[in-house]
Amino acid sequence: MRRRAMSDERRAMWMPHSSLIAHRSSLGLVTAAALMLALSACDSLPGRPTEAERPLRPSEVTDFGALYGENCAGCHGADGKLGAARPMNDPVYLALVGETRLAQIIASGVLGTPMPGFAPSAGGMLTEPQAVLIAKGMIAAWGQPDALAGVTPPAYSATGAGDAQRGAAVYAAACASCHGADGRGGEKGGSVVDGAYLGLVSDQALRTTVLCGRTDLGMPDWRGAAGGAPLSEQQVGDVVAWLVAQRPRFPGQPYGGQ
Ligand code: HEC
Ligand code: HEC
Repeated sequence: MRRRAMSDERRAMWMPHSSLIAHRSSLGLVTAAALMLALSACDSLPGRPTEAERPLRPSEVTDFGALYGENCAGCHGADGKLGAARPMNDPVYLALVGETRLAQIIASGVLGTPMPGFAPSAGGMLTEPQAVLIAKGMIAAWGQPDALAGVTPPAYSATGAGDAQRGAAVYAAACASCHGADGRGGEKGGSVVDGAYLGLVSDQALRTTVLCGRTDLGMPDWRGAAGGAPLSEQQVGDVVAWLVAQRPRFPGQPYGGQ
């Protein structure tokens, strides 16, 4: 009797049995759905890259080595030298041009030459702060704070018009020994009057070369090889004017040129 009463009690207790089962199974569904959601958002699924492995957008890169390597090394050389374009790994150049101007050139490029602008305003994919970061990075990596200590160099940008005729005399005295009497190349240097070359570079690039040389390839800066007198501001302007005067009017065209 007692037993029976108990089992009755128990039965009463379990009266909502079926509805509980239903409740339980819907709970199970919710749990399963939550689990699937959690799993689908989980980075540890095979083949899914972790946060650190995801490639950064160009505008998110803040490492100088990566920025220089991806955007500049192809033209200016892996370690900032021995590229087709002038070396950046040049303390005299970096000191002369300065950080502000460097960042400006990186952001805007040099119109009409292969030097691209990297800021969005110039069609590039880097931000203005990244241009500053690259300029600072180059100075930190390759600059020397005292590169121009005690020296008064000619200005980075031309301060007045040069005279091509006087420039011819400067060329004969300071350049012909390497680039040949007529500029078409000598034992120590190539042609500086090649139409295709002159058609590709800006006047400033020629001035920068006269100022800073190509130290990576053995061309000295405006102070010349050891012992020679440095070129004056005027002489730099004049020899650049002479180089510019050798540029064909229509570079790359077989006729109508110089
Ligand atoms: C496609 C080749 C190319 C790439 C890429 C390139 N440059 Fe240049 N760069 C040039 C050329 C060519 C010049 C010379 C332009 C001229 O004629 O004035 C130049 C000029 C410059 C100058 C000015 C030189 C001067 O006369 O004072 C700076 C500074 C410079 N580049 C820095 C950079 C940096 C930093 C990067 C990467 C963010 C870069 N360049 C990427 C080709 C390139
Ligand atoms: C000691 C030898 C030497 C002297 C002096 C010299 N150069 Fe050069 N120059 C070179 C070498 C080496 C190069 C590297 C390329 C080559 O072989 O022509 C070069 C490159 C150049 C370039 C091309 C730079 C580039 O890569 O865009 C120009 C322009 C140039 N020289 C002009 C001059 C002028 C102008 C003078 C005189 C003010 C001069 N050089 C004096 C050896 C010299």
